[in-house]
Amino acid sequence: MGLKLNDIRKSFGTPPVNVLKGISFEIKDGEFVALTGRSGSGKSTLLYVLSSLDPPTSGSLKVDGREMESLAPSDLHQFRNLHMGFVFQFHYLLPELTCLENILMPARKTGRQVELQKDALKLMRDFEVEHVKDKVPGKISGGERQRVAIARALLLKPKYLFADEPTGNLDSASGEKVMKIFEQVNRKHKTTVIMVTHDMGYANRAKRRIGLKDGAVEFDRKSKDR
Ligand SMILES: Nc1ncnc2c1ncn2[C@@H]1O[C@H](COP(=O)(O)OP(=O)(O)OP(=O)(O)O)[C@@H](O)[C@H]1O
Ligand SMILES: [Mg+2]
Repeated sequence: MGLKLNDIRKSFGTPPVNVLKGISFEIKDGEFVALTGRSGSGKSTLLYVLSSLDPPTSGSLKVDGREMESLAPSDLHQFRNLHMGFVFQFHYLLPELTCLENILMPARKTGRQVELQKDALKLMRDFEVEHVKDKVPGKISGGERQRVAIARALLLKPKYLFADEPTGNLDSASGEKVMKIFEQVNRKHKTTVIMVTHDMGYANRAKRRIGLKDGAVEFDRKSKDR
């Protein structure tokens, strides 16, 4: 079980520009992986492919043994909604909804909003954002917004959490809170975390670091067991 990539390639445009140049690796359940590399090395592109938000040009992506390419779009959508959480560098909270309503968005699709309200509030408490529950995202700080976005990503207890520079726009205190949350969900809930970061301090806290260079894997290192 987990994610398995085999010779993933991705190109954009005509003539095609090859952005991912044959990437193969496996991520097992419960891993905490930091994806690093210079700007333009293909980190975000790879994260989108890994999370099946964007199909590769060629190659295979298996999630829990399923070939993602072979799923019907509606099944793929449902699989993602139930099992994958996403956190982007620039949060995509809906501006007209309150923070609590934003966190409950994934539950809306499955008709479990009422049932999950308690869980949403518990996440807000854990992430120290309960005080902003009735505010709209435009009226709270960047760090608070990011923690609301993470709470939303975690509401349905996804097996996988994908994050693209989740600490990128935050001051060090807010960044540290986000990192702690990721470490905690990985440890307590065994959530598989895949996080793009250019912050070496955070990357070094991951159990495994995969470095990209020009669209290929430059290194793949595991930390020694602590
Ligand atoms: N939709 C697209 N169309 C054309 N080119 C793209 C597209 N998306 C990405 N690229 C190109 O692919 C390369 C890798 O982009 P990507 O966003 O994956 O890099 P990155 O490692 O995430 O960089 P950063 O650290 O700056 O976020 C870049 O040269 C980028 O211009
Ligand atoms: Mg990027």
